[in-house]
Amino acid sequence: MKDDVYEPKPHVSENAYVRSMIEYRKLYRKSIENPVDFWSDIAKQFHWETPIDRQKFWSYNFDTSKGPVYVKWLEGATTNICYNLLDRNIRLGLGDKIAFYWEGNDPEDYSRLTYKKLREEVCKFANVLKSKGVEKGDRVAIYMPMVLEIVVVILACSRIGAVHSIVFAGFSADALADRLVDSQCKVLITADSVYRGEKLLHLKAICDTAMDKAKEQGHEVKHCIVVRHLQRLNAFFESKTQNHNGCNGDAKNHYDETPWNDDRDSWWHDEMEDADPSCYPVWVSAEDPLFMLYTSGSTGKPKGVLHTVGGYLLYAATTFKYVFDYKPDDVYWCTADVGWITGHSYVIYGPLANGATSVMFEGTPFYPNVDRFWAIINKYKVNQFYTAPTAIRALMKYGDEHPQKYDLSSLRVLGSVGEPINPEAWLWYYKLIGNEQCSIADTFWQTETGGHVITPLPGCTPMKPGSATFPFFGVQPELLDENGEKIIGEGEGYLVFNRPWPGIMRTVYGDHKRFEETYFSRFPGYYCTGDGARRDADGYLWITGRIDDKLNVSGHLMSTAEVESCLTEHPSVTEAAVVSRPHPVKGECLYCFVTPNDGIEFTNKLASELSKSVREKIGPFAMPDVIQYAPGLPKTRSGKIMRRILRKIAINDRNVGDTSTLADESIVEILFKNRPENA
Ligand code: WT7
Repeated sequence: MKDDVYEPKPHVSENAYVRSMIEYRKLYRKSIENPVDFWSDIAKQFHWETPIDRQKFWSYNFDTSKGPVYVKWLEGATTNICYNLLDRNIRLGLGDKIAFYWEGNDPEDYSRLTYKKLREEVCKFANVLKSKGVEKGDRVAIYMPMVLEIVVVILACSRIGAVHSIVFAGFSADALADRLVDSQCKVLITADSVYRGEKLLHLKAICDTAMDKAKEQGHEVKHCIVVRHLQRLNAFFESKTQNHNGCNGDAKNHYDETPWNDDRDSWWHDEMEDADPSCYPVWVSAEDPLFMLYTSGSTGKPKGVLHTVGGYLLYAATTFKYVFDYKPDDVYWCTADVGWITGHSYVIYGPLANGATSVMFEGTPFYPNVDRFWAIINKYKVNQFYTAPTAIRALMKYGDEHPQKYDLSSLRVLGSVGEPINPEAWLWYYKLIGNEQCSIADTFWQTETGGHVITPLPGCTPMKPGSATFPFFGVQPELLDENGEKIIGEGEGYLVFNRPWPGIMRTVYGDHKRFEETYFSRFPGYYCTGDGARRDADGYLWITGRIDDKLNVSGHLMSTAEVESCLTEHPSVTEAAVVSRPHPVKGECLYCFVTPNDGIEFTNKLASELSKSVREKIGPFAMPDVIQYAPGLPKTRSGKIMRRILRKIAINDRNVGDTSTLADESIVEILFKNRPENA
């Protein structure tokens, strides 16, 4: 079953941009052999205030022994990404086209926004930012729910050349504080509170704690602008005549509790009231920074991945167009939160660069019922749907009857992102959601890559369930063995790239050395993804998962070191080791081994304190599934923890392999004996 090949259906291929593998190979070859022609053809559709110079089209160095690593695309050209996404599309006649259908957490709460209206809001908010002293190059932090205002903030930043730094609104106050300090943000934009499903989150209160903590670390956020989201919702439901039973009814009670500091805070609607609705775009260099977005690093400190204007525009736009085969009348929906890279590239920049109409969804797949995704696809007649394997697996569990209640026949392309999709989930997605009529795009990429790098194209690529298939245009993947030797033909190894594409990250904000060490030191001359991959006899690439110390829980990447340092910060803990364990829904989950200080007893209380501290320091998505008492850890004589053994203990597999290099072999049996009953 696994090795079956699924050809794209004729109705998908017929009108696709790329209709056959012959066409794909031709375009791919051009993108590799003649990148200047390939990308300048694409660049032509956009506005460049200072034209592109073919002599300085691209340059790079991936080899640390030859000097600093750098990547540059379109050096010398100037543009404005917001102008290209809004003004350019309005000039093309799309002013009254819907940019976003917004669907609230509550199904009765929805709205829409046209390109023209979006530009007006963006210009107004750009002027608000200017009034707060924000200038080109300044960083603006965003900690917001999935509301249309987040689109406005992002584009307002890019209109004036400010750098946005979005922190997913599921991160804790501590995590937000670290990011505010690292990026030295002048302004923070948030909302009062938001419902996700039945859960109410007090975002402004979290921001207050984070701003206090940032201040303790020597960085003061000067202004905080707050969208009145919950109170709007409350007023909306009060104005409705029928009795509303939704969870949002008690909004008013919470509104009054929004903590406030008059010297620093202001309401969005007050700021916007008299703001000027026109704002001339600031022309910036193609290599000026557009945004930074944090991703977990091997040490506790998060890395601010920096993307720049010109290359990112080309790459987000092109991948969106080809990978989803987006056509002008289509309705596209990506369920990702804007706080992750998927939201940046495929909720905001890619779709808007193509003049697309998208659905933006605030809620969860489970509220008010587990059929919410399918109800929304049906409501808006969605043509391209893009979500994560963890969501698919979670929804599969509830049975086939939920999607079967709805007409999903508008769908043409189904996307998957964030982690390997197991063949069972792939087939359910293909059959139950796609009715065997859609192409599935299993898109492999990273925060660092800016856009899809390995992915099928819906009109041409024969699909194999679980394989991300072939490289996107301009991307040249290779597999290397431990010694850096190229693996030719079939085989498995480290997935690396030997040259840059326009959307690759340029640096780690404020720490170029770390950029070089993290991605370019393992194999000189290559960008190293940190993932393993296998190439099969047909040349298909299969991502096998992280081969570094990273874990992927429900598509959220985190490092074992990050969680370990959080555990060992507890005064009663000497040592901790965290490994991943397969999980039926989350993909992977955290299994923690904890050694308490001498004389300290390992209790349930300690375990729950540790859980709480992980939640507070990182965020709820990092909550460990198991915290196990470990009187000692399996270490080599040189003191290295043998994680491979811990992974076996986590799954209760006695086949631990060779333990002869351990300093103390008896610890393995002790740890098996100490597995908690609920583990
Ligand atoms: C890591 C990057 C890319 C946006 C969301 C995650 C894993 C991502 C796939 C896929 C197998 C995948 C990799 C990668 N990953 N997509 N289609 N198949 N693995 O961004 O947080 O930067 O995580 O997610 O391990 O390195 P991110």
